[in-house]
Amino acid sequence: MAASKSLVRSESGKVRRVIVVGGGLAGLMTVIKLCEAGVPVDLFSLVPVKRSHSVCAQGGINASVNTKGEGDSPQVHLEETVYGGDFLANQPPVKAMCDAAPSIVFMLDRMGVPFNRTPEGLLDFRRFGGTLFHRTAFAGATTGQQLLYALDEQVRRWETVDVEDDRGERVAGEKMVRKLEWWEMIGLVTDDEGVCRGIVAQDLKNMSIVAFPGDAVCLATGGCGIVFGRSTNSVINTGTAASAAYQHGACYANGEFIQVHPTAIPGADKLRLISESVRGEGGRVWVPRDPKEQRAGREVPESARDYFLEEKYPGYGNLVPRDIASRELFKKCFHEHRGVYNRESQRNENEVYLDVTHLPREILQKKLAGVLEIYEKFVGEDPFVNPMRVFPAVHYSMGGLWVDFDRAANGSLVMGSPRNQATSIPGLYACGEADYQYHGANRLGANSLLSCLWAGMVTGPAIAAYRKNVARSAWDMPSSLFEKAEKRERKAFEAILALDGAENPYALHDELAHTMLVDCTIERDNATLDKVLAKIEEIAERSRRVGVTDTAVGKMNQGAQYVRHLRNMIVLARVIALGARNRDESRGAHFKPQFTQRDDANWLRTTMAFHKAGANGENDAVRFVRAVDYTLLGQRVEVKDEVDTTLVRPRPRKYETAGAASTAAKG
Ligand code: FUM
Repeated sequence: MAASKSLVRSESGKVRRVIVVGGGLAGLMTVIKLCEAGVPVDLFSLVPVKRSHSVCAQGGINASVNTKGEGDSPQVHLEETVYGGDFLANQPPVKAMCDAAPSIVFMLDRMGVPFNRTPEGLLDFRRFGGTLFHRTAFAGATTGQQLLYALDEQVRRWETVDVEDDRGERVAGEKMVRKLEWWEMIGLVTDDEGVCRGIVAQDLKNMSIVAFPGDAVCLATGGCGIVFGRSTNSVINTGTAASAAYQHGACYANGEFIQVHPTAIPGADKLRLISESVRGEGGRVWVPRDPKEQRAGREVPESARDYFLEEKYPGYGNLVPRDIASRELFKKCFHEHRGVYNRESQRNENEVYLDVTHLPREILQKKLAGVLEIYEKFVGEDPFVNPMRVFPAVHYSMGGLWVDFDRAANGSLVMGSPRNQATSIPGLYACGEADYQYHGANRLGANSLLSCLWAGMVTGPAIAAYRKNVARSAWDMPSSLFEKAEKRERKAFEAILALDGAENPYALHDELAHTMLVDCTIERDNATLDKVLAKIEEIAERSRRVGVTDTAVGKMNQGAQYVRHLRNMIVLARVIALGARNRDESRGAHFKPQFTQRDDANWLRTTMAFHKAGANGENDAVRFVRAVDYTLLGQRVEVKDEVDTTLVRPRPRKYETAGAASTAAKG
């Protein structure tokens, strides 16, 4: 296939832009890399870019820089990430990420991120879960915010740079980045061959629906924690864009792997994260030894405290990987009924103590102020003198849109290959929490900021290569293609506005979230999952009979938008719950009391799901497959569900016995 002649202009003379959806770290980094490759970008964001969920990340970003001379290295980072993820991650992308991590942190430093430094002026690194090394660079406890603002500044620079034509002359009125904030991606535009040619988006300020051409599209739209209702996620993290892409034919992978963070605090609106970095700086988790203990935490003497993580995991202590820590906390509260006594409710609540009262105040101020302020503000207690009361909360989706990678001979990635981060829909890419690629069955803390940035650094060049070789620019496709997609989405939105049934969409979401949260997170039982699945089908059926709570036309209408998100969440809930039901083993965040062991013989494989639309008013279904095949730039690619474990051989995880000198959890 012959590629378009000009990289700047299409045959019909239009500037050939690509589309990035999502203004968090992954999206912004993709934009930056595209601009560096000379590719103009339209950047869409559901909210102003600076409100993207990356802003909530607290504890830091991993990079094996080894400034403390502990013997850490990118190879150890790779091993620990793979162990932490219970061997479900394809290893070449993880290796590439870990190798790149130190240079990413140095780059951020040069962008002006105010990382904490040691007294000597070196970048400081703290401990995080799943490692014994100080590997996490941090900016107090507001690292995500600092990183997001730094990248936002870089993208703003590109917003002022003119596109240059093939002769290097400026194209009047065309900037390298056009930013469309308050626009929601609601559908894809694909041509007759199934190639992605753009998106349909809705302007949330006036609800108009418009189709946009793009020579490629990247979804960097985050995770789907809101499927579970209250979580540490922002309320925008419904997974709606990934769900729309899945319903359009993209493969969704490992949906069942949902991370529950061990330490959060309740809130009526959301659950607020109390960063793992609190434990990284020496915070200790405990419950009273006596379940009848009624004294306030600070009055309970040392001898009456049960530091249960430290006792069971002497090597890793409070910093075992999150899947393990969350299960231990859950066990303490739900199975052993050892949650701490609450004076207000006058009963034992499902909470444990996270204690920093023994740590020097100036260290806490310098390294953890942001998160301790959150605790004080939302709980009303001073964490400098009272042990904090915390409980696990849904935090991260390891699963997401299936994406490909191109393995290099050295076990890393072929950088610039159009296969990297490509979904099963040609021309559609995904990165950040929206993809499934880097964390296997359980993500290590502080690997998410890294994977977002790294995936953006991979996706930019991949899209640039794809665009260079694509036979025909989306900007030359007939306008009827875009009109048809626009019409499809307008019709769908008008149908939402016309809904006047008795079901309340917010109440339905509560029901969905409740069943998912209670029965499809830390412990999963097959008989109960059958009930969850039945409940999802009931909710799916009832969701056709909702009444839209706002019928306004021509102005922001969050009520109608919510109905769309609800439907898309139901679709993802089905993928998550069915994936969990099928996977009869325990691996990482997926734990079944009926099958407590990892089963590599049968389940060391990626769950690959395709959407099956329901016919004649029936509910949708899921089609699980053992291989994905797609055609990229004229070449057929087939990828099986086997996991590439060629770099770190699968072994049992033994965090109970792994000692202080271990490099990975080798026991
Ligand atoms: O605990 C935290 O600060 C969260 C970090 C992460 O999820 O990577």
